[in-house]
Amino acid sequence: MKRMIKVALPKGRLGESVYKMFDEIGLGCPESQESSRKLVFENEEKGICYFWVKPSDVAIYVEHGAADVGIAGLDILLEQEPDVFELLDLGLGKCRMVVAGKKGALSGTGRTLRVATKYPNIAKRYYAEQSREIEIIKLNGSIELAPIVQLSDVIVDIVETGKTLRENNLEVLEEITAISARLIVNKASFRFKTSEIEKMCESLRERILGDSVI
Ligand code: PRP
Repeated sequence: MKRMIKVALPKGRLGESVYKMFDEIGLGCPESQESSRKLVFENEEKGICYFWVKPSDVAIYVEHGAADVGIAGLDILLEQEPDVFELLDLGLGKCRMVVAGKKGALSGTGRTLRVATKYPNIAKRYYAEQSREIEIIKLNGSIELAPIVQLSDVIVDIVETGKTLRENNLEVLEEITAISARLIVNKASFRFKTSEIEKMCESLRERILGDSVI
């Protein structure tokens, strides 16, 4: 009997694109496109099983071994630092992690900088490297609002098109890092299902290079 590979997919647009990639390398599960409430989908013949989970939870499922592999943004991986292997950059979900705010917001030196973010660990590490004292204001969404209503001086957040910043008269003040979606693997799963996982990874790599093997 085939050993099942359990894949944690991030709900939303990124997950849909990633699922399409899996489908294109012959690992689809037609049922997964039919119901919007069902959470687990199996294709026994192909030995693959998919879960749809909240993007920020993917690494938790993989680290604990509830999923063998998963797809998570580098933003989530840098923030959570899960104990997993990162096998492949899928080249999807590309964006940038930046410091943003009103023009000149970084120039008032001497006082503690108030930083609003969904990514406190990334922000803390970034400013620790610069030996700059900051106060973190942890938010869960609509981060751009913080500097507009003076909740913070700046934000640390992801920027994709830059539209949200532009429409709110904010700008990128510093670049922290480029972000994209990564294929991550549970460490024990990688030891016990090495050949299946490596085969999957290789097919995805070839698909990314535009040399699809179906
Ligand atoms: C993200 C991010 C920015 C926006 C950037 O928010 O936090 O707000 O996308 O995209 P843009 O550069 O293309 O305008 P998300 O949509 O994830 O929602 P959130 O406000 O709940 O974080």
